[in-house]
Amino acid sequence: MSFILPPLPFSTNALAARGMCQETLELHHGKHNQAYVTALNGLIEKNPSLQGKSLEELIRLSRGNPELTPVFNNAGQHWNHSVFWQSLSPTGGGIPGNFEKRLIAEFGSVDKFKADFKTASTTQFGSGWAWLVLAGDGKLKITKTGNADSPLANGEGKVLLVLDVWEHAYYVDFRNRRPDFVDNFLAKVANYEDAAQKLQSA
Ligand SMILES: [Fe+2]
Repeated sequence: MSFILPPLPFSTNALAARGMCQETLELHHGKHNQAYVTALNGLIEKNPSLQGKSLEELIRLSRGNPELTPVFNNAGQHWNHSVFWQSLSPTGGGIPGNFEKRLIAEFGSVDKFKADFKTASTTQFGSGWAWLVLAGDGKLKITKTGNADSPLANGEGKVLLVLDVWEHAYYVDFRNRRPDFVDNFLAKVANYEDAAQKLQSA
């Protein structure tokens, strides 16, 4: 069975007033994410040993295997984007009370959490991702990965929130200003309600 690109959980113009325009989402979801899905399906079609496996299984079995680098890149990018869409919201930026308390308890303040997340996002050299995860020791952790890697792939923890910091994520709206894109995400777009639900169900 082939993988498919699920629709966005909101319309392509739903975030336009919050700094992520329709063109960005049409390109990012409809072209970039679709291209990873199409490429992954092509790779699976040519390799029977990969058939019938879940996306997560494909990511884990291909990580670190030089012969399966294209599988890892495309499966990883599809998974990362799937979680990224959940991390965006047309009512983003509002932090639920319990989640806010947890952020303050672990980072000292919401501002410190945002500052640390911004540092991870802006210091990821080249293409990659910034993540808030629930680590194996039960603590919240901010981390970053390059290219298609992720906390699912490297075992760093359960993902609660993610920001795509590939240039294709922000160039239409913010040109080369990644720090402004990160600030805007944390203030107006980040789906902290989804993060809080993921934490609760962990
Ligand atoms: Fe992306």
